[in-house]
Amino acid sequence: MKQKVQVTAGPGSGGGLRPRWLKEYLGQERVKAAIGLCIEAARRRGEVLDHVLLYGPPGLGKTTLAGVIANELGVGLRVTSGPAIERPGDLAAILTNLAPGEVLFIDELHRLSRAVEEVLYPAMEDFALNLVIGKGPGARSLRLELPPFTLVGATTRPGRLTSPLRDRFGISCHLDFYREEELVEIILRSARILEVEVTVEGAQEIARRSRGTPRVANRLLKRVRDYAQVRGQPRIDPALAREALDFLEVDELGLENTDRRLLEMVIIKFGGGPVGLETLAASIGEDTVTLEDVVEPYLLQRGLLSRTPRGRVATPAAYRHLGLVPPGGRQEALW
Ligand SMILES: Nc1ncnc2c1ncn2[C@@H]1O[C@H](COP(=O)(O)OP(=O)(O)OP(=O)(O)O)[C@@H](O)[C@H]1O
Ligand SMILES: [Mg+2]
Repeated sequence: MKQKVQVTAGPGSGGGLRPRWLKEYLGQERVKAAIGLCIEAARRRGEVLDHVLLYGPPGLGKTTLAGVIANELGVGLRVTSGPAIERPGDLAAILTNLAPGEVLFIDELHRLSRAVEEVLYPAMEDFALNLVIGKGPGARSLRLELPPFTLVGATTRPGRLTSPLRDRFGISCHLDFYREEELVEIILRSARILEVEVTVEGAQEIARRSRGTPRVANRLLKRVRDYAQVRGQPRIDPALAREALDFLEVDELGLENTDRRLLEMVIIKFGGGPVGLETLAASIGEDTVTLEDVVEPYLLQRGLLSRTPRGRVATPAAYRHLGLVPPGGRQEALW
């Protein structure tokens, strides 16, 4: 049987790199300040924390933050996800098994079915379940009180949430891409945990190519560490970091093969665009969800790609990044 809910001390190990407390959670200062304040207020009042919605691109620390919230509150954390909760009964089972005050983390919240959502509304609002027992004329409805709890929902697609669901979160936090200095801090912290020696400049070199994303920063740090080890270099300085990242085909903007293939496809095969998402996904052999959720957000943020009603368009910056001349490029150079 598929496991619907995990009881954990934290949301997975994250290779030991996952921060467990707010003070270890680097960057995202505004989000941290807002959440820290609400936690403190809830603690002083002896109440449960209001429900928290975390949204933003993958790898920015939503799951991590859910674990941090539970730790800071000193309560247990239960982890599940939208697609794992198949029927209303699954959710009822999870909710009735919560201990008072616990945090329930639902990842991929936009993938909850409507029927399950209906059960969640009164649970979030009144800590109650409305159950229908039996079928046909003999059916009875039953209201069941639940222990108070905090729901932390995470999604990469806030636009896909229904508004009644969105409205039931008292605290809503948008996680955005990290600044380079913040990623440097994260890399230096991870390096200490992994016991690898990285200079500040070496960390900067990795941070610059980490696409604003802690998960990518940690992944690149580990790959650079492998490279350093095999080369017999005990210390990661900028020269070594650059050499390793070039070897891994991560370019100066942090683009990897998939990103470059996508831009090349738009430019060369589709004349710069506009090209529809599905056509584009099919031509580079990725599914549309990965393309939209994982690949595109950073390209959009860096201004290499733009979204128009008729499809994706490569910007002049994308042409230049690939060493190509943008249409009308000469005139532009004169401005
Ligand atoms: N603020 C932070 N400070 C330090 N490390 C972080 C931070 N945020 C995330 N990380 C690191 O990045 C990794 C990825 O974070 P996490 O799994 O929480 O992202 P996510 O937003 O839940 O991604 P997804 O949408 O794919 O589920 C974590 O394992 C953690 O080590
Ligand atoms: Mg996650």
